[in-house]
Amino acid sequence: MKNPDLLNKLEKEKDLTDQELAQVIEGLTGEETEVLFARARAVREREYGKDVYVRGLIEFSNICQNDCYYCGIRKSNTNLERYRLTPEEILDCAREGYQLGFRTFVLQSGEDAWFTRERMSDIIRKIKKEFPDCAITLSLGERSREEYEEWFAAGADRYLLRHETADDDHYRYLHPENMSLANRKNCLYTLREIGYQVGAGFMVGSPVQTVDNLVSDIRFLQELKPHMIGIGPFLTHPDTPFADKESGSLSRTLVLLGILRLLFPGVLLPATTALGTIAPNGREQGLLAGANVVMPNLSPVGVRKKYELYANKICTGEESAQCKNCLNLRVESVGYQLAVSRGDSRVV
Ligand code: 5AD
Ligand code: FES
Repeated sequence: MKNPDLLNKLEKEKDLTDQELAQVIEGLTGEETEVLFARARAVREREYGKDVYVRGLIEFSNICQNDCYYCGIRKSNTNLERYRLTPEEILDCAREGYQLGFRTFVLQSGEDAWFTRERMSDIIRKIKKEFPDCAITLSLGERSREEYEEWFAAGADRYLLRHETADDDHYRYLHPENMSLANRKNCLYTLREIGYQVGAGFMVGSPVQTVDNLVSDIRFLQELKPHMIGIGPFLTHPDTPFADKESGSLSRTLVLLGILRLLFPGVLLPATTALGTIAPNGREQGLLAGANVVMPNLSPVGVRKKYELYANKICTGEESAQCKNCLNLRVESVGYQLAVSRGDSRVV
């Protein structure tokens, strides 16, 4: 073992220097990586037992005013049919999810201005009225404080907004000029202040990302103290400016999951769809590296292919019930079990 002290420090004191953190991200031997995963699993089982929380993901609109260079649903991609579910269709997805036993719904869309403060509030209230025992997670991008406040008052519980990268230059490389890391961070702090359980996160292996960038991501997360952290590999999409950039790696994503579990013991950490796309058993490997959440797709099958953030996204042909069964088998294959509950974070 080259780095036993580093792993101890990571788990116990959590006060590694930037250099030490970089060493863990890129310098572990194969054997040490297995030790990292085993410790991450032990912490995850201490915090959450064998339960894996389920979130039913409803991708209700792929209309987006943003033009992020990595994303397949960016507004400049004309090679994509746009769709927007009606409020009633969104409600139907939630009904189907409830029948399947899901107690958290994630409402995700592009930054679509049709969903105004009022329309969104209305949808949130209707879902909460019909399913008061469910949590609602929003993932609608950067909006105003007033909108965030009103949606919280209407009953939304959680908000996912990945920061994507915590390095200013890198952020500018990944996004057009009208977007800024400062604004993204502001939104996250505002959401926290309002009382949402907040999720941040980043892509692993996005173009020109360095190990130092990843250290900055971890530092930012330590400052924000989110309840959830969503990470997955960057995956190339052919109809974007990054069409010729290489995808991120499975192994680095897994190492980061392990590190995040040790640094943030009680955090909710999904084994993402991107992880399942980069490798057939990517999500299972994610669970074995410290992840404790899965997010099956609840969107109507007819629109799924159109929410292609990256190429070859999985679960685009399956019905919701099939996704649930498939995930159930996958979760059990690694010794865990799907939990039927809201699955709140242990981070306060
Ligand atoms: N590869 C991987 N993840 C992506 N996302 C967007 N485009 C890609 C891509 N090409 C992620 C972003 C965003 C989330 C909804 O999906 O991190 O926040
Ligand atoms: Fe959707 Fe496997 S989780 S098909």
